[in-house]
Amino acid sequence: MADTSTITRDQAWELFKTYNKDPFHIQHALTVEGVMRWYARDLGYGGEEDFWGIVGLLHDIDFEEFPNEHCIKAPELLRNGGVGENIIHAVCSHGYELTVDIKPEHEMEKALYAADELTGLIWAAAIIRPSKSVQDMEVKSVKKKYKTPAFAAGCSRPVIEKGAAMLGWELDTLIEKTILAMRSCESDINAFMAAHG
Ligand SMILES: [Fe+2]
Repeated sequence: MADTSTITRDQAWELFKTYNKDPFHIQHALTVEGVMRWYARDLGYGGEEDFWGIVGLLHDIDFEEFPNEHCIKAPELLRNGGVGENIIHAVCSHGYELTVDIKPEHEMEKALYAADELTGLIWAAAIIRPSKSVQDMEVKSVKKKYKTPAFAAGCSRPVIEKGAAMLGWELDTLIEKTILAMRSCESDINAFMAAHG
């Protein structure tokens, strides 16, 4: 599963940038990359951290240019970029039952499926805080926003809950871990976006 021999992080970044220019999408990709790296360490896959991170970085590669073919166009873009089939499967599995019939199998794929939409919701909740940060954000304030359907309405609660169930976790556990994961990479991403965004 941990075959990253086909692509390095630098190559993945160049490939991602070929199809993504919007700072919002770049910030999201970097966030999911950092979150996936944290999950790799937390779930006992520290040796596969780069692999998990590359999947996070590339997961929405086709969304900016091909929003109506999300996870359908991705294999072509990734294959042309020399990306291995294990990464392609992982990327496409986050569109399970939405646009494709590729089920998350590996724990990494389940973590991506569960955390992707949730990072969007937590980020939206963070930027309206006085601190504009997840560092002082707690589960209960995310839960309050989560239960307000109009808040970050594009972040699918059914997908998040299905993801938590796939991992065998309570929703609160998923939220708590994802907050910690976002805390781990927030300052690096903010610094990068300020310099390049
Ligand atoms: Fe995403």
